[in-house]
Amino acid sequence: MRLGATTIVSAVLLSLISIATLQAVDKKFHDAPDSAKALKNPYEGQQEAADAGKTLYARNCLACHGKLGKGTGNVPSLVDGKLEGVASGEVFWFITQGSKDNGMPSWAFLPEQKRWQIVTYVTSLASGKAAPVAASSPSAVSRTAAALKDPSPHAPFTDFRYEVPGTTRKITASDLPEPFATQSSNNGAEVVARPEKAWPVAPAGFKVELYATGLDNPRWLRTAPNGDIFLAESESGRIRVFRGMSGDGKPEQMQVFASGLKRPYGITFYPPGPDPQWIYIGDTNEVIRFPYHNGDLKASGVSQHIADLPSGGGHWTRAVEFSPDGKKMFVAVGSASNDDDTDTHPGEKDRADILVCDPANCELKIYAYGIRNAGGGIAVNPQTGELWCSVNERDALGDNLVPDYITHVQEGGFYGWPWWYIGAHQDPRQKGKHPELKDKAIVPDVLLQPHNASLEFTFYQGKQFPAEYGGELFASEHGSWNKAVRVGYEVIRVPLHQTGHATGEYQDFLTGFVLPDGQVWGRPVGIAVAADGSLLVSDDGSNSIWRVSYTGK
Ligand code: HEC
Repeated sequence: MRLGATTIVSAVLLSLISIATLQAVDKKFHDAPDSAKALKNPYEGQQEAADAGKTLYARNCLACHGKLGKGTGNVPSLVDGKLEGVASGEVFWFITQGSKDNGMPSWAFLPEQKRWQIVTYVTSLASGKAAPVAASSPSAVSRTAAALKDPSPHAPFTDFRYEVPGTTRKITASDLPEPFATQSSNNGAEVVARPEKAWPVAPAGFKVELYATGLDNPRWLRTAPNGDIFLAESESGRIRVFRGMSGDGKPEQMQVFASGLKRPYGITFYPPGPDPQWIYIGDTNEVIRFPYHNGDLKASGVSQHIADLPSGGGHWTRAVEFSPDGKKMFVAVGSASNDDDTDTHPGEKDRADILVCDPANCELKIYAYGIRNAGGGIAVNPQTGELWCSVNERDALGDNLVPDYITHVQEGGFYGWPWWYIGAHQDPRQKGKHPELKDKAIVPDVLLQPHNASLEFTFYQGKQFPAEYGGELFASEHGSWNKAVRVGYEVIRVPLHQTGHATGEYQDFLTGFVLPDGQVWGRPVGIAVAADGSLLVSDDGSNSIWRVSYTGK
């Protein structure tokens, strides 16, 4: 920041005055240096600047601090009196710096003038002089910004503006709107480079660090029995392995385990337990395996073909998992289409299913069906031994249909696609078909925001997080395209309350991948628990892996 000579002189004078007057109430505001107190607001008390600041607040701050500035969860109130007596210069300094470890982004990328306008608004809001932002605030820079004019969503539905770590949500089948209640949006993420100061936000007590970056389309993550971390770089057909954790939370070694695959995604070890002999990979049209022994950083032999999988069309990811006794291999294969009737579309044969075989002699058959796309994630719950899945439901029925979901999977269970959804709701595009399946369609355990794009999940078996997290489920939500104001782009926690079963609730856990103006810089895909108990999240927006650890601070 550059200051003119007059500004400096007046700043020095002002600092002398403010130091003198503030002496009595000398509370340190986020350890702001004395030089911060000295910065003078060029717009002090100017209504026009406060108005401009209000618009900027709505666009940049409202999502966390709220319309009334009251905050929520770990986001502090700006109107509880604490800011009174804090110098404008300190507020300016603080929003410029941000407080990355505690979830307050830096706003240094906004021009200085705009930051001062925000300060003008925030300080007048704090002193009760400014009216809070109305439900819809003006902004018109892009389609996304236009969508941000939308009024706040009605609970239980939400969007990225209101995702805050620690917020609990619960959607039930009775909350669903009618099909086409809103029009179908085409609002895919145009991923931008991560602004230097943008950083994922976790609940209080957790720290977020960059574990690895410069990767190529990082997707599925899996921790090997010996603690090595395996990653599928799907677009480049590569499996990478990371080993160790340095003092500053970075891998000590990184190597390419295998390359030249088609489009690998799911990775798992066989047999289950501490001493695997093989690593299985869901490549898009087949399951293959490489020999693997603890400690291998490179495949010691060529791959073997295990099973053919239907492929082509949409939904190319193939998640693979073994039952705890090693007698069943599960493979999730998503539908080729959004909602084609499988009776009349032979290309949908053995798709939108979870398939199963005996790994000793793999002949795939259907384990559970009507599951539009669980290719993003299946996993066994270690506490109950049940198979669970994370599912992308169908599009083009409006903003708040159909909820994505996470559920335990019933053998032989029917989950609705393409004729029914979330129990006995008929898809209007399949009207009159398969009435006999109406009551068979299972309502899943945890309904997520529609269009979230729920992908990999893991059950927390680490020792590092507080005890209440033991056995709970964490899932990566890649983020919406078919919703007017985007949603997802976060990691969620599904509380299981030590029972191994879900109650329907979930919580926002790791957010901040969408900038306040709606541009996206990060998209969670894979998730795994490292040997030290920290949580690793792959992100194919910024081509990185993030590490979330608990510090208690
Ligand atoms: C992603 C969520 C998020 C956004 C967006 C956000 N903040 Fe914050 N803000 C926080 C959190 C979390 C804290 C607490 C940080 C700490 O205690 O170190 C905070 C703290 C603050 C504080 C200090 C309050 C106090 O009493 O200590 C101010 C002032 C503030 N924010 C202003 C803003 C302004 C102005 C904007 C918009 C330009 C903004 N914030 C946008 C999350 C956010």
